[in-house]
Amino acid sequence: MLTLPKSVRLVEVGPRDGLQNEAAPVATEVKIGLIERLIAAGLTVIEAGSFVSPKWVPRMADSGAVLKALGQRPGISFPVLVPNLKGLEAALEAGAREIAVFGAASESFSQRNINCSIAESLDRFAPVVAEARAKGLVVRGYVSCVLGCPYEGRVAPEAVALVAARLFEMGCAEVSLGDTIGAGTPLAAQAMVEAVAAKVPVERLAAHFHDTYGQALANLLAVMERGVQVIDSAVAGLGGCPYAKGATGNVATEDVLYMLDGMGVATGVDLGRLLEAGRFVCEALARPPASRVARAFRAN
Ligand code: HMG
Ligand code: MG
Repeated sequence: MLTLPKSVRLVEVGPRDGLQNEAAPVATEVKIGLIERLIAAGLTVIEAGSFVSPKWVPRMADSGAVLKALGQRPGISFPVLVPNLKGLEAALEAGAREIAVFGAASESFSQRNINCSIAESLDRFAPVVAEARAKGLVVRGYVSCVLGCPYEGRVAPEAVALVAARLFEMGCAEVSLGDTIGAGTPLAAQAMVEAVAAKVPVERLAAHFHDTYGQALANLLAVMERGVQVIDSAVAGLGGCPYAKGATGNVATEDVLYMLDGMGVATGVDLGRLLEAGRFVCEALARPPASRVARAFRAN
């Protein structure tokens, strides 16, 4: 018998993690239209963009315009990624109330993704987190490559725990554990979460799993069994990773919701409305959804 949480908080990352990797430009109106539909589906945390170098990630260059168009919505938060103080300044100017700093458990990935070592990244994040908190913002921390690195292969759970603990001690209210390349399997995911939960309370952890090898749902079930109650996912399974060749998108929100609904785990999200949001963005991108649930509903 599995022990599962009664409810799970879904963090929708499609508009950021999903769209950041698109080869062709995505109109600002499409991003806003997608986010509006995600809100209509009942999602309350929607990662809306990132304030990073537009040379590194051109698809996120309009994040300020997206945030400004959305404005403040009661009960809804629109976190954005921020790598440094320059990004924080721009995010604040656009009205951000929640930010996320993003590090990695692997040195090579840290270098390729944010152009610095893990230690340098943590030194860079500390003033960002401090200033954001002083301004009343909520801060999340990401750790990438928690179940494998595209350059280094296996990543030790202790390495993940170390970075997660530093982010938590720095003032991150939640630490999201990213299986960036979707390499994990359920027992490895459990071992990783156990190692992190020895240093960071499990209720402060989120699972951010990509679905490259079709393991994401199994991995999510495994870590929910260990107490994780926050799940990141992307509508239509959008995305990939510009620095992780071959990695597919986040686990699809539709697939996660279908599983949670079926097990009686509450999320407050409506599957029918979510499917509509997925249809909207897939039509705009002219491609079918990377969600088995969405494809099954389309076929029936
Ligand atoms: P750098 O080149 O070392 O930075 O990049 P720099 O400080 O030397 O600045 C270089 C140039 O970038 C300068 O412009 C700066 O002004 C500009 P120039 O003088 O050449 O014209 N710059 C900025 N512009 C806008 N916003 C900023 C900013 N900072 C500097 N905030 C940097 C370092 C971190 C900026 C760069 O590497 C970068 O932007 N990386 C982005 C990486 C990224 O967004 N990756 C995807 C998100 S992470 C992810 O997807 C994983 C996750 O989903 C979890 C998981 O799945 O595991 C979160
Ligand atoms: Mg990701």
